[in-house]
Amino acid sequence: MKNAQKTGEAEHEDLLVRRIMNGTVIDHIDAGEALNVVKILGIAGTTTEALSIATNVMSGQMGKKDIVKLSNRELSKDEVNRIALISPRATINIIRNFKVYQKKGVEIPTLIEGSVRCPNPGCISNTNEPIKSKFAVLPNGLRCLYCDSVITKDLTSHII
Ligand SMILES: Nc1ncnc2c1ncn2[C@@H]1O[C@H](COP(=O)(O)OP(=O)(O)OP(=O)(O)O)[C@@H](O)[C@H]1O
Ligand SMILES: [Mg+2]
Ligand SMILES: [Zn+2]
Repeated sequence: MKNAQKTGEAEHEDLLVRRIMNGTVIDHIDAGEALNVVKILGIAGTTTEALSIATNVMSGQMGKKDIVKLSNRELSKDEVNRIALISPRATINIIRNFKVYQKKGVEIPTLIEGSVRCPNPGCISNTNEPIKSKFAVLPNGLRCLYCDSVITKDLTSHII
C-alpha cells in the first residue's frame, strides 16, 4: 500500500512537472512559497533557466506543498540558507542522470550575512560603506546586528 501510494504521488506529480536529467528539485516547500524560492534563486523576468514550478499540490506529509525543479543547476549554501528562512521543511534533492543522487534538509542558520536588507534606512548596512548586512536569527524573526532593528514579518520582501 505504501508503495502504491508513493507511485501514485510520483505519477501525479509527473503530470505537473517534467522529469529532469540533472539539476535540483526543491521539494516540501511551504504551500504558496515557490515563487519566493524562485526569487531567492535570482530568477525573475526574462530567463534562460529551465525551471518547473508546482504550487499547492497535495502532499502526504504536509497537506499541501510547492515544488521547484531546476535543470542543470545546484544551489549555493547561501541560497539554501535563504530558502530555510521561508521554508524550514524544504528538502533539496540533487538529481543526476534522472535519479536522486543526494537528498538533504535545510537548516535555519543562526547568522544571516549579506542576503537580507535592514529595514532601517539609517542603518550603516544601508550606506555606501562596504559592509555586509548581518542578522541574528531569533525564534520570531531577525535582528540587525548593527542597529538592533527586528524584522518579524514578510521576511521575503527584505531578502536581497
Ligand atoms: N529525475 C527527476 N526529475 C524531476 N523530479 C524528480 C526526479 N527524480 C525525483 N524527482 C522528484 O524529487 C523529489 C524527491 O524524489 P524521491 O524519489 O526521493 O521522492 P520521495 O521518496 O517522495 O522523497 P521524500 O521522502 O523526500 O518525500 C520528488 O518530488 C520527486 O518527484
Ligand atoms: Mg515525497
Ligand atoms: Zn540595521
